[in-house]
Amino acid sequence: MLKDLTSPKIMTGLPGPKTREILELDRRYISPSYGRPYPLVAEKGNGCMIEDPDGNVFLDFAAGIAVVSTGHCHPEIVGAIKDQAEKLIHISGTDFYYKSQVALAKELDRIAPGDSEKQCFFTNSGTESIEGAMKLARYYTGRQYLVSFFGSFHGRTMGSLSLTASKYVQRKGFSPLIPSTFQTPYGYCYRCDFGGCSGECHCLDFLEKHYFKQVVDPCEVAAVFAEPIQGEGGYIVPRAEFFPKLSSICKKYGILLVADEVQSGMGRTGRMFAIEHWGVVPDIICVAKGIASGMPIGAFIASSEIMSSWGPGSHANTFGGNPISCMAALKTIELLENGLVKNSEVQGEYMSAKLCELMDKHDIIGEVRGKGLMLGVELVKDRTSRKPIPAVRDKVVENCFKNGLLILGCGETTIRFSPPLVVTREQCDTAVSILDRVLSEIESG
Ligand SMILES: Cc1ncc(COP(=O)(O)O)c(C=O)c1O
Repeated sequence: MLKDLTSPKIMTGLPGPKTREILELDRRYISPSYGRPYPLVAEKGNGCMIEDPDGNVFLDFAAGIAVVSTGHCHPEIVGAIKDQAEKLIHISGTDFYYKSQVALAKELDRIAPGDSEKQCFFTNSGTESIEGAMKLARYYTGRQYLVSFFGSFHGRTMGSLSLTASKYVQRKGFSPLIPSTFQTPYGYCYRCDFGGCSGECHCLDFLEKHYFKQVVDPCEVAAVFAEPIQGEGGYIVPRAEFFPKLSSICKKYGILLVADEVQSGMGRTGRMFAIEHWGVVPDIICVAKGIASGMPIGAFIASSEIMSSWGPGSHANTFGGNPISCMAALKTIELLENGLVKNSEVQGEYMSAKLCELMDKHDIIGEVRGKGLMLGVELVKDRTSRKPIPAVRDKVVENCFKNGLLILGCGETTIRFSPPLVVTREQCDTAVSILDRVLSEIESG
């Protein structure tokens, strides 16, 4: 039984025969734009474990791209989904009213950073949360420019894609994107383009010194969009001074600060929202991914002052905040507050220390970074040259899979660990020892 397993069990060659049948159908019927790193076919999930159709069991440190915060098929989430499905599946929250939608908005008002009264708009995904926040920022400020950071990922629809600047393949062929958007340097200290600093964050000076003097009057800038920890860009954690400084630049010019917490939010970093690590209160927060343990729902949350600037008809959708997703989100928040945010902090610290220990053995590990269970390991040719090794990184990801560990890459040369927040210390040990083995094999050629 999958339920009883806590470590991987590979019984067939990978991919196994039943898995291969699905891969064939996928090749024929599914868009080739998806970028699968290895041939995992998932059939069942429980906690941190995934079973494929051939009975192979994997330890999941990807969590459906940081989505299944409470683990696969948590019984209380399954119960909440089943109960609601028997009562009401859909009615459309932008035309009618129902209890679960207001209950969830009330919870988000309570847990989101900041003392001001807040309101929510419910979406279906991360990209839709960003699109909505872009519109709200323009509407509220009456300004048109929107700024984001190099390395950022905010989604793939036309608006959010205009802010995304993590890999050019994501933008190539889709121009023109929306005008009046531009990117500025992020606080990527391991590869600082500004000669390093001791807390001055010269990367942010670039925004004021160049963009705000030579390119655009800051009075025309509606918002700066920032991930508290860059996700797809490489699990990059800016230094302590970065967000306080960014927040004060925004305040100085009346620019809204939008925190994209789509990946870093909902307990992933050992705080409910990652921005809390920096003690900064953003004007708008975007969430999705981990908010409902795998049910499709997102939201953007703003102070009532900002949100009430637009009126009926300005922005709406059909599926956003459907009752089943709302109930799954309410249960997710309850489970997060009843121990999983704490577990993320505790296991994250433990795992980070174990990954750092691997640095003694593997010169290929350039840096271990992250907060809570949002951990990145940047791989390099050697620690002196810091040369990126994207092909080797891809091999590490693939070989972890062959050894029963599911992880994903991010950035140019980083691997990420984002397990469900129910992960145990033993499972962290297993993941680290698989990585250790894979790195040793790769290093010995
Ligand atoms: C920080 C961030 N913002 C936005 C998105 C887009 O979310 P979605 O894929 O749900 O549209 C992602 C997805 O990875 C993300 O990591």
